[in-house]
Amino acid sequence: MELMMRNMFQSLGKSRAANRLAKKYGLRFGAARFVAGETIAQSIAAVHALNQDGRVATLDHLGEFVFSEEEALESAAMCMQTLDAIAESGVTSNLSLKMTSLGLDISRDLCISNMKRILDRARLYDNFVRIDMEDFAHCQISLDIYRELRQDYDNVGIVIQAYLFRTMQDIDDLDGLAANLRLVKGAYKESPQVAFPEKSDVDENYKKIIQKHLLNGHYTAIASHDEAIIQFTKQFVHDQQIPNQQFEFQMLYGICEELQKQLVKEGYRVRVYVPYGVDWFGYFMRRLAERPANVWFVLKNMFK
Ligand code: FDA
Repeated sequence: MELMMRNMFQSLGKSRAANRLAKKYGLRFGAARFVAGETIAQSIAAVHALNQDGRVATLDHLGEFVFSEEEALESAAMCMQTLDAIAESGVTSNLSLKMTSLGLDISRDLCISNMKRILDRARLYDNFVRIDMEDFAHCQISLDIYRELRQDYDNVGIVIQAYLFRTMQDIDDLDGLAANLRLVKGAYKESPQVAFPEKSDVDENYKKIIQKHLLNGHYTAIASHDEAIIQFTKQFVHDQQIPNQQFEFQMLYGICEELQKQLVKEGYRVRVYVPYGVDWFGYFMRRLAERPANVWFVLKNMFK
């Protein structure tokens, strides 16, 4: 049953028709718990509130299904406006983005040129940009582009997913670049040819890559709500005397709020991933797929 629901949400999230429909009706069905708003102003207000209790943020302008150059340029413009708004408002946040929204599926050159404009803007403000990792089909090209960008930019990082078999090799390969990595379990539906089907194997691999990247001496964002993983990291950095400045915990907006605040109180850096924009449906579906228990929350909101 749970697997069926997971598959259903993952498919719905990819459906263009469902995304179009959702866009028309605005943030509904409890999506506002996970999405900070539809406008930049709403997202900045959400970051401001997080900053009040010591949490920092990474803002993500949601955009899926970009199939024309015009849409990709628009999406890049939104990223740059977000960086402007962060600087103007003085909130503490960097930027996360998806390269498919910048035209990765249209042309590599278009995507790289958009990335460079965004990174130039971020550099102007001494800010940082994180490339989210998408499905396996985009993994190699994303890492290739990241390598290319690192030749000219040090204010860019990428994400590595623990569920992929290739991941340990990727961590090794990125060592020479002193990559700033966000490590996650992985959110997409992948084939057992390329990813661990069992959660316990994903968790084990996650621990291994956390250890490896930290011991390599590079900045590591541990992006997880899993208390066992968080506890494991705390113990590991303590035992290895890894300074708090070399890592941070990251969680999603609206998930495990109390845990986020608790970690700040304990002296850790906590960054909250704050998505915003009218294109919220795919993101929302991925959050439901991760935790079908959220469906009850959605149902309650439908009848409010
Ligand atoms: P796990 O799924 O084991 O969940 C542990 C516990 O966390 C659950 O028992 C529950 O209490 C809570 N929880 C988890 N998900 C929840 C939800 N949706 N609603 C309510 N509670 C929930 N993935 C990817 O492929 N590419 C990327 O770029 C990113 N980026 C990213 C950034 C940040 C800041 C985070 C936190 C996560 C991502 N992810 C991601 C998503 C990631 O791959 C993964 O799918 C989710 O974080 C869920 O896995 P957990 O590590 O939280 O553990």
